Amino acid sequence: MDKIRQYAKENYIPIIRDETAVYLVKVVKEKNPQNILEIGTAIGYSGLLMLENSKANLWTIEKDEKRCEMAKENFNRFNMQNRVKIFNDDASNVLEELVKEGTKFDMVFLDGPKGQYKRYYPLIKQLLQKQGVLFTDNVYLQGLVKQTGTIPHKHRSMVRNLKEFLVELQQDQDFETTIYDIDDGFSISYFKK
Ligand SMILES: C[S@@+](CC[C@H](N)C(=O)[O-])C[C@H]1O[C@@H](n2cnc3c(N)ncnc32)[C@H](O)[C@@H]1O
Repeated sequence: MDKIRQYAKENYIPIIRDETAVYLVKVVKEKNPQNILEIGTAIGYSGLLMLENSKANLWTIEKDEKRCEMAKENFNRFNMQNRVKIFNDDASNVLEELVKEGTKFDMVFLDGPKGQYKRYYPLIKQLLQKQGVLFTDNVYLQGLVKQTGTIPHKHRSMVRNLKEFLVELQQDQDFETTIYDIDDGFSISYFKK
C-alpha cells in the first residue's frame, strides 16, 4: 500500500488522504457492507483499503483507461480480482445503467469528478440499500467551498455545484449527514429510509 501511495504522489494521481482514510475504514468496519460502489477508482488505493477491511465485493468506476489498468494490476497483486468489478467508463453512464438494472449497494464511496456530485446524487440515492451509507470525499475542495470571496473562474461552476450538492445532502430528510472539516472535507450520510 505504501508503494501505491508513493506512486500516486510521484505521478500526481489524487488519492484519499490519510485521516480521511481512517474514517473510511472505520465506516467500512462498522457497516460491514456486502457490496460497495466506488465512483473514482484512480489506481485502486481506496478500493483496496475497503476490500482489506471488509468481506464486501467492490464495483468501481474509472474513466481513465491507464488508471483502470493500473488499478486492475493492483487488485490482482493483492489477490482481490474475484471481489472487484471495474467499469472503465464515464460514471454517469454506469450509474444510469445500474439504476435501470435495479442494482443496490450497502455503501457508496463518492470520489469522482467533484462538479458532478450534484448530478450523481439522485442516481446514488436510488442505488443505496435501506440503511446504506454514502461517504463523499473532497466536499470542501481545497477550502474553495467555504471561501466567501470571488472564486477563480476555472473553479466557479465546480464550486457552485458542490455547494448546491452539500445543501441538498444536508437538507435531505432521508439522510443523516455529518460533514467533517478534516483533510479536504468529507461527509458521511446514513440512509434512513
Ligand atoms: C480523487 S480520484 C479517486 C481516488 C481514489 N478513490 C483513491 O482514493 O484511491 C478521482 C478519479 O475519478 C476519475 N474520474 C474523473 N471524472 C470521471 C468520470 N466522469 N467518470 C469516472 N471517473 C472519473 C479520475 O480519473 C480520478 O482517477
